[in-house]
Amino acid sequence: MAMIARLLPNLLSAFRLFSLHLANQNSQKNMQYDVVVIGSGPGGYVGAIRCAQLGLKTAVVEKYKTFGGTCLNVGCIPSKALLDSSEHFHNAAHTFTTHGINLKDLKVDMKQMIARKDDVVAQNTAGITYLFKKNKIDSFEGVGSFVDKNTILVTKADGTTETLSAKNVIIATGSKPTALPFLPIDKKRIITSTEALNIKEVPKTMVVIGGGVIGLELGSVYARLGTKVSVVEFLPSIIGTMDAGLGKELQRVLKKTLGMEFYMGHKVTGATTKGKTVTVTADTPKGESISLEADYCIVAVGRTAYSEGLGLDKIGITVEERGKKIPVNEHLETSVKGVYAIGDVITGAMLAHKAEDEGTYVAETIAGQKPHINYNLIPGVVYTWPEVASVGLTEEQLKEKGIKYKAGSFPFKASGRAKASMDTDGFIKVLADAATDEVLGVHMIGPRAADMIAEAVIAMEFRASAEDIARTCHAHPTYTEALKEAALAATDNRAIHI
Ligand code: FAD
Ligand code: NAI
Repeated sequence: MAMIARLLPNLLSAFRLFSLHLANQNSQKNMQYDVVVIGSGPGGYVGAIRCAQLGLKTAVVEKYKTFGGTCLNVGCIPSKALLDSSEHFHNAAHTFTTHGINLKDLKVDMKQMIARKDDVVAQNTAGITYLFKKNKIDSFEGVGSFVDKNTILVTKADGTTETLSAKNVIIATGSKPTALPFLPIDKKRIITSTEALNIKEVPKTMVVIGGGVIGLELGSVYARLGTKVSVVEFLPSIIGTMDAGLGKELQRVLKKTLGMEFYMGHKVTGATTKGKTVTVTADTPKGESISLEADYCIVAVGRTAYSEGLGLDKIGITVEERGKKIPVNEHLETSVKGVYAIGDVITGAMLAHKAEDEGTYVAETIAGQKPHINYNLIPGVVYTWPEVASVGLTEEQLKEKGIKYKAGSFPFKASGRAKASMDTDGFIKVLADAATDEVLGVHMIGPRAADMIAEAVIAMEFRASAEDIARTCHAHPTYTEALKEAALAATDNRAIHI
């Protein structure tokens, strides 16, 4: 008894400490913020940083362990890392001897390629952690959901919760791969882009469903490494939303350089897996059924806005039936005052730079400024080789709108720089208003088009004429001279080098 009496104070104190620990774990802390951002992708993290720069007390809620969303973790960055690696391999295998460089026993070390990609991702996601600290942004790991329009519940993986009070909320929850209802994704052989970034060996064969951006970028990665890639596309052309000339040229080059096969106008009807083989069935344009066997099938038929688990019903927001997008007004505010939405989860292009600009836009709106986004001038890029890039109106759109225009184009085969680097496929096309010469669209397929398109975007932001570009001095020899030449061709059909 005496012993128990002696130990009792210690036991009580240990019990008190344990209870306090439990209470802390389940506590409903109510922290106050000017802005709570749900989601840390390019929309969310840029929005949060801009809010903090403007002096707003800001928190970010992210359900994944690392920041950066789809873009940094399973999208833009890892896909470009693999595109760069596979491009090195392809060049070493196919163009080095022409350059006078002979290599023996060239091999792909897929594990190392994936490990380097993971390292690139880690560097980028760590960069966001650093930026959040630098800008004094609080971060909470867990699923964010609305209790009411000013209260966000954060539910962590272990089930514990925290509550945040917010004067304003920015929903930046992004998107997820669209699945075909008749084609279940098993994530092993029938996969999405996420799994395609982690295949640990070079497959012999691969079917890609969807000749859009993801299908062609990831298809290129594996085709460059030696995989026989077949693309099955529902529409008559690949990258169907871009200027028609671009898809036509890209298809020609990918077939020529990488041996990619294209099944255009084919309607996929199903896919089954047996052991390590996937069989994809599709209907041809004539209605006949074909089947394609492969080691893997990537389903890349678009992405769907992601707003599950947000508790939108609690604040009276209904998502659109088709595409599940959250409706917003011209200020990117939802039907609920003080609740904004940006990026892939709302209407418009599903692109990282569009999400980033919307993050900045909403932060500045909350801070009382009057920002602006020019949605007509959001560039689109496909990181194949040659790269494809586009801004403004396509020829098809100009015709549809009845706008009279002049077109000038310049092929890379006439560019000295492109000849030197053996990148002579592709062209640049400049479309200008027939009456005023204002540049209305620039469409390019060629070396480093992804970087070159910025010149066209800036020119168009300043409402340049084709002649303005044509009379601007471009360094020689550069790929950008092709833009000057295309502008010359559009101005007065006076390109110099063709
Ligand atoms: P996301 O980046 O999707 O981020 C949303 C975040 O919200 C995620 O981290 C998610 O975990 C989190 N989240 C969701 N719900 C909750 C919740 N309830 N609580 C807490 N957190 C939540 N775009 C380009 O511009 N260039 C490219 O080269 C490019 N390449 C791509 C390659 C691939 C393979 C893919 C799949 C996409 C690519 N994209 C590219 C598209 C780009 O990734 C997206 O447009 C961009 O990431 C959208 O940003 P976001 O901020 O709207 O959403
Ligand atoms: P996408 O919309 O670019 O292409 C999907 C393609 O699949 C379309 O051509 C469509 O016609 C086709 N398709 C749809 N249903 C089909 C079916 N049943 N059978 C055959 N084909 C079918 O979508 P994707 O490639 O999945 O990319 C999703 C989003 O990610 C895009 O909106 C894009 O903006 C973004 N992204 C951007 C990148 C970039 O900027 N470089 C890179 C990768 C993705």
